[in-house]
Amino acid sequence: MKRIEIKAPAKINIGLNIVSKRDDGYHNLETFFYPIHDLYDYITFEKADKFSFTCTDASLENESNLIVKALRILEDIKKTHFNIAIHCEKHIPMGAGLGGGSSDAAAALISLNELYQLNLKYEELVTISLLIGSDVPFFLKSKPAIGRGRGEILTHVDLEINKFILLINPNIHISTKEAFSRIKPEPSNIDYSKYFTPASFQSGIKSGNIRNDFEASVFEFHPEIKELKERLIANGAEFALMSGSGSTVYALFSSSEEAIIARDLLPDGYFKFISRPDSYFH
Ligand code: C5P
Repeated sequence: MKRIEIKAPAKINIGLNIVSKRDDGYHNLETFFYPIHDLYDYITFEKADKFSFTCTDASLENESNLIVKALRILEDIKKTHFNIAIHCEKHIPMGAGLGGGSSDAAAALISLNELYQLNLKYEELVTISLLIGSDVPFFLKSKPAIGRGRGEILTHVDLEINKFILLINPNIHISTKEAFSRIKPEPSNIDYSKYFTPASFQSGIKSGNIRNDFEASVFEFHPEIKELKERLIANGAEFALMSGSGSTVYALFSSSEEAIIARDLLPDGYFKFISRPDSYFH
């Protein structure tokens, strides 16, 4: 095999509780990761005479890009050099709480493992992906999952959210590291394994108990994100929450018409995307 093309999907966090600070500087958290399969970066890996990495966003063409980081880690482990031409068509906004960089890194690990027949097992890929970022393990499968620990202890859940999910990013970039530094962890008061089942999800979102611990401090620094969330609720969303450490806010709607109305009431310059309920199968 010479070439692989892969879709690296986005994700949202439906609920995010920061439980405790760990000795290694990271935090233990609890969250429900949900993949957004119709919003994705499109990445091509092709064996070539020399290494190259290009991206539709030229500012991302550097060694600190998580795709290149994944490649370098595999080179270190396998004591080799990959002559490969990589191209990334970027669609997922960055620093947005949608996991774009992490998803790209997971796509790189999966693709290089296959292209060069490295025979790394899923468990080994999880360990390697944690060297790149806490959200990367989720994207090795990109299936709905409760995440614990740094986010790598995953319990996959057979829950398909039968809603139109409107994603709005107000072009604010938030550093995850800084967002964590402003949080005072507290144990979760919600039982994630109870809320995220097909039978309980609807009542869960209505209960008001599904929260994101980053919201309070991020809203303090960026009141416009709080206003965005309030506008989405006022404009008919059944549920709205910030994803990850922000700044994307997503909102759930039962019909595409309602989602379109809410989307069109927001400023033109914002990133806007409506994910369809059937996208999970594509
Ligand atoms: O793992 P990742 O590189 O995405 O994390 C960026 C930063 O966010 C970490 O350096 C750490 O400060 C913080 N973080 C954390 N606990 C997590 C995930 C990230 O404290 N579970």
